[in-house]
Amino acid sequence: MNVMQTEALTINFGGLKAVDEVDFAIGDEVIGLIGPNGSGKTTFLNLVSGIYKPTGGKIVFEQRDITGAGPDVVRQKGIARTFQTNRLCLNLSVMDNILLGLYSRQKATWWQAILQPARCRREMARDIDDGLAILHHFNPALVARAYEPVTAIPLIDRRRIEIARAIVGRPRLLLLDEPTAGLNAEETGQIIGDIGRIRQQDHRISMIIIEHDMAVISSICQRVVVLNAGRKIADDCFGEVCKNEQVRRAYLGG
Ligand SMILES: Nc1ncnc2c1ncn2[C@@H]1O[C@H](COP(=O)(O)OP(=O)(O)OP(=O)(O)O)[C@@H](O)[C@H]1O
Ligand SMILES: [Mg+2]
Repeated sequence: MNVMQTEALTINFGGLKAVDEVDFAIGDEVIGLIGPNGSGKTTFLNLVSGIYKPTGGKIVFEQRDITGAGPDVVRQKGIARTFQTNRLCLNLSVMDNILLGLYSRQKATWWQAILQPARCRREMARDIDDGLAILHHFNPALVARAYEPVTAIPLIDRRRIEIARAIVGRPRLLLLDEPTAGLNAEETGQIIGDIGRIRQQDHRISMIIIEHDMAVISSICQRVVVLNAGRKIADDCFGEVCKNEQVRRAYLGG
């Protein structure tokens, strides 16, 4: 059964069709989303995560139509993401950044915080425990640094914090936009290992990963979808996609 699917999903920016009638479906699996620069990969994730409203088409998540829902609602329903560029609040602590990922899950309102402080403290303690458990999973040394500002943390651990912020609410679908960008080969291997272990621990998390490194794609993705100029031009296993003539032409620029 599909976790999420899009039907003829489209967005126009003026005359540019950045995503053009894309049919996409993901089940319990990891899909690599690839394509040349400017082919619409990030825009596709922006549509699925509710940041952009589509000009046409449909997004269905766990059998419900979520087309047009905003990012908070989408996150609450179980779709989380990371961004192509760092979106951490550098002056906040590691833990504060992770807790921001739970913003849409927190149920207590400001007046409950005043009238029922014990309940709010319990909710907060549970969220902090969840955050610490995820940090421990990624890098046990980060637990001791949970209350340091992110500025003091090296790049690879910042990337882990971004992923931790996305998975802390236990999403059903995780969207990762170039999780290894800017990392060297050794660090890339570590992050990919971390991402693989998330799946081992929680098989219910499906993932879409945008990635330019084909070694990464072939190592963790069960299927690969290729975009070119906003259109889906291939949807197959890695081996078949590599042999696809249209895909080769797209990457070679004609
Ligand atoms: N908000 C926007 N307004 C206008 N054009 C946009 C907007 N967002 C994206 N585009 C355009 O849509 C196209 C697809 O961009 P997108 O960022 O999705 O590409 P991408 O496949 O993620 O590329 P890269 O590999 O470089 O990250 C590009 O031509 C881009 O300039
Ligand atoms: Mg992009």
